[in-house]
Amino acid sequence: MSELRSAQWYAGNDRNAYIHRAWMRRGAPPDAFTGRPQIAIANSASDLTPCNSHLNEVAESVKQGIWAAGGVPLNLPVVSLGETLVRPTAMLWRNMAAMAAEEMLRANPVDGVVLLGGCDKTIPALLMAAASVDLPAIVVPGGPMLTGTFRGVPLGCGTDVWRLSEEVRAGTLSEKDFIDSESSMIRSRGHCNTMGTASTMGLLAESLGMVLPGTAGIPAPDSRLLARAHESGRLVVDLVEKQRKPSDILTRSAFRNAIVALAALGGSTNAVVHLLAIAGRVGTPLALDDFDSIGADVPLLVDLQPAGRHLMEDLHRAGGLHAVLQEVRDLLDPEALTVSGRPLVDEIGTGQIFDDEVIRSRASPLKPHAGIAVLRGNLAPDGAIIKPAAATPELLTHQGRAVVFDSVEDMHARIDDPTLDVDADSVLVLRGCGPKGYPGMPEVANLPLPEKVLRQGVRDMVRVCDGRMSGTAYGTVVLHVAPEAATGGPLARVRTGDVVTLDVARRRIDVQADLDAREPAPAMLAALAEPRRGWEKLYVDTVLGADTGADLGFLVGASGDRVARESH
Ligand code: FES
Ligand code: MG
Repeated sequence: MSELRSAQWYAGNDRNAYIHRAWMRRGAPPDAFTGRPQIAIANSASDLTPCNSHLNEVAESVKQGIWAAGGVPLNLPVVSLGETLVRPTAMLWRNMAAMAAEEMLRANPVDGVVLLGGCDKTIPALLMAAASVDLPAIVVPGGPMLTGTFRGVPLGCGTDVWRLSEEVRAGTLSEKDFIDSESSMIRSRGHCNTMGTASTMGLLAESLGMVLPGTAGIPAPDSRLLARAHESGRLVVDLVEKQRKPSDILTRSAFRNAIVALAALGGSTNAVVHLLAIAGRVGTPLALDDFDSIGADVPLLVDLQPAGRHLMEDLHRAGGLHAVLQEVRDLLDPEALTVSGRPLVDEIGTGQIFDDEVIRSRASPLKPHAGIAVLRGNLAPDGAIIKPAAATPELLTHQGRAVVFDSVEDMHARIDDPTLDVDADSVLVLRGCGPKGYPGMPEVANLPLPEKVLRQGVRDMVRVCDGRMSGTAYGTVVLHVAPEAATGGPLARVRTGDVVTLDVARRRIDVQADLDAREPAPAMLAALAEPRRGWEKLYVDTVLGADTGADLGFLVGASGDRVARESH
């Protein structure tokens, strides 16, 4: 093996090498600093990120694997983002977590890294970091939780919270029953068990080639996860020896495979901003339209909530990611390599469906065309997305009068007002929720239906927003509208009563109005965030649009692992 990066700290007999070694010894074996790869375990375990709180145990297995292969494991706690708790939205901190992890990997004597994530933003942030520092890296996804049940019925994390709370608002479920279900929702360690963002990004990390094949989707409490974690620790030492880096793996071919997987799995719309941001870090060309051109005609094969019925434990039992990818093998790019050094198409070789209720065969898909559709029109000149698989088919072609809300607060204040002029055909428009407008681009696009419409038995309406939607949500929702209203996009100029036309087949979203002739709505402008200092200020000043991944402009790209200067 050529000289290790960490040798820049540890090799030689000068004062600095002495300092670096002496402070790190603390019981390490005598040969720890003479040619053994130093492997960071970028660990997003945190009690405030409950979906990742078991990652310390996973890290122990990774450590054993690293030792066994001759490396030296080093726990590196990283910024952790708990989707349910962090305000105003965990997405505000994704780029910060990525930046912090990138800088700490570069600043330290590290030759390779194992990335431990789970909850929604944690895997994307770590992949962005690893791509920008470009050290040999492997992801160990923390895995989904087991299925909880309430009165004999499985509960899907997130998805069923939305569903049950709508039932309460519609008057078909008592508040007591709703609260009684709370303690059944989270059955075990692990992340959300629906095909939300966490499940999606774990599976896509493997589809990108960044996970030891066969690992993503193993439930968090399953002992096989620890075995794979051990193997991943061994493999990362090998990656260092071979100098196989994220830039070798995260090629356009790899992103093509991830987009095919995203469609076949019925994955979260959040994957769009995450994959775009990761590609931006590596410098791999990837555009919003690629999601449509590569993914739109891929069939939906996985019957998981929120688009379908089952949960992640079922997917694993039914054959998991490899069984799904095997069905769409002809759509995969044979060039894309994984961390194993072998192409993804070879790694899925033994994939097999064991329950065709959960994973459908190519011959009988749930939907023939499942990918994310990219819409354009005078309302979204830079693009907007919709996930047709989670939408009501009849609403995919729809015309209705806009009911416009200028902020989330405005929406909450008026949505259930009995005098609100709204019916089932109205198009609910919520703006000021893009990356800059409501810093972080919250998951509010699936705004609740007005109570008076709900009481008529209506369960879906066309909604349009420049924000995101939870990966566990569903509905006919046009999201990530770009440019966002806060930057003066046409969305800022729509008015209540304008006729909005959605035509997903033609990939159009238009308003019958001369939007250019109008000024942005003052009430919307007044509601925008105006941070004066700190991260939020940096974020609002530099964040890019959703159509390119909502990274900070100055973080796009990579700096590699070089550090110019010594510390003393
Ligand atoms: Fe962590 Fe859903 S809240 S994955
Ligand atoms: Mg979420």
